[in-house]
Amino acid sequence: MRHAAQAEARTEQTNKRLGILLSGRGSNFLAIAAAIADGRIPQAEIAVVISNVAEAPGLVAARPMGLATATFVSRGRPRADHDADVIACLRQHQVDLVCLAGYMRLLSPGFIAAFPDRILNIHPSLLPAFPGLDAQTQAFDYGCIVAGCTVHFVDEHLDHGVIVLQRAVPVLDGDDADALAHRILEQEHLAYPEAIARVLSGEYKIEGRRYVTRA
Ligand code: GAR
Repeated sequence: MRHAAQAEARTEQTNKRLGILLSGRGSNFLAIAAAIADGRIPQAEIAVVISNVAEAPGLVAARPMGLATATFVSRGRPRADHDADVIACLRQHQVDLVCLAGYMRLLSPGFIAAFPDRILNIHPSLLPAFPGLDAQTQAFDYGCIVAGCTVHFVDEHLDHGVIVLQRAVPVLDGDDADALAHRILEQEHLAYPEAIARVLSGEYKIEGRRYVTRA
């Protein structure tokens, strides 16, 4: 029993702690949680799930999973004030890596400075194409033949930081924007856990805008 407790304590010490930020559905958060549970993101745990929207479905889903949750409603508040609350919460939970998972807010420069090269985002396009809202519809309306998703580090510009991983999907003749969004989302659920695992491994370097895996 004592050994088991010691082993558990050791595991807790070595696990990297993720802070998930979301605004809505939370399917990427659930994909990350599933990937941790089945070992695709080794030595990691979700330390806290934070939403800027009260009762966001992703936040509601986190509660019965026994995860710490917090809500900081952003509407009507100055960005810097709101972000200061979120930063304090992430620090309180000793978060190593912040994962934006459908967090529909721009981060203030202070937020980015608080977690340098430790904030990831997933976006449903092959960046730099179609940053911003409704990326899948933008790609469909543009007539793209290939679309996809991007996991990238977050910098002070919208959907702009160093790219960690991209996955492409075809746009098929019978598609509408919803069908395309669904096909992209399936790839998001694979791409985000894989990107998190790569970043947590530390086996990479950043050269300019290039993410390079260390041999
Ligand atoms: C995902 O498609 C994600 O890529 C997108 O919001 C959706 C959230 O879904 N994020 C952005 O557009 C960020 N610019 P989810 O809540 O089910 O994970």
